[in-house]
Amino acid sequence: MIDYLWPTPVLKDTAPWTPDEMEALRRFTVERFHNHKANPPEHGLPDVDVRLRVQLNLFHAEHESHAPPVWHRFRRWVEDTYRDYLLGAHGVRNAKDLRIEARCISVHYQPGMRAQPHYHHTCDHVLCLYLDCGQERSPPNARDWTVGDGELILQDPRPMAGFPFWEKVHYVETVPGLVVLHPSRLWHETNPFNAKGERTLLVVTLRVASHNYVDLYTELKGETP
Ligand SMILES: [Fe+2]
Repeated sequence: MIDYLWPTPVLKDTAPWTPDEMEALRRFTVERFHNHKANPPEHGLPDVDVRLRVQLNLFHAEHESHAPPVWHRFRRWVEDTYRDYLLGAHGVRNAKDLRIEARCISVHYQPGMRAQPHYHHTCDHVLCLYLDCGQERSPPNARDWTVGDGELILQDPRPMAGFPFWEKVHYVETVPGLVVLHPSRLWHETNPFNAKGERTLLVVTLRVASHNYVDLYTELKGETP
């Protein structure tokens, strides 16, 4: 279902995987996370001081060679879900014909960790699939909301009048199997993961790579004619 918040189209759904398939995706996500930490990749970006940097794409062949069978259906499902969203949320009539590019990131937290406020650049939309949200979580209606527990927080993108901030944020309770798809420029963060166990999710950044006239642009390189 697509909710129009502020109005920003945010899709919330339940993933179609069985518990065994979810467990296979979770194991793969955690294994690739630790593999990435142990084997820093070569990449072409300048070495700026960005604490949240995670340079990997689980859709690359190197990672997919380690993936469980469900992975390839997951990848196709991401594509279908995104094309349906582009049509339903934005009215893109030729959504089925567009060239779509994607990057899949494994996100893995220990208790106390959180995602700091951010948005995603270089892409148009972000899809999250929650695989593990820990154990012994407090129920939302009994939770200390001055602390929270892993909720996804989406921020109203409109300029503000003098409202208190809690009128302008949208909390999403996260559970295994939850799917959220939102525009990449939407500022968001998560409350700290305060339960027991681990928190694991797949984040897919998506972009439309055709029909957008990028090939008409010329690079400005400071050249004198
Ligand atoms: Fe994010």
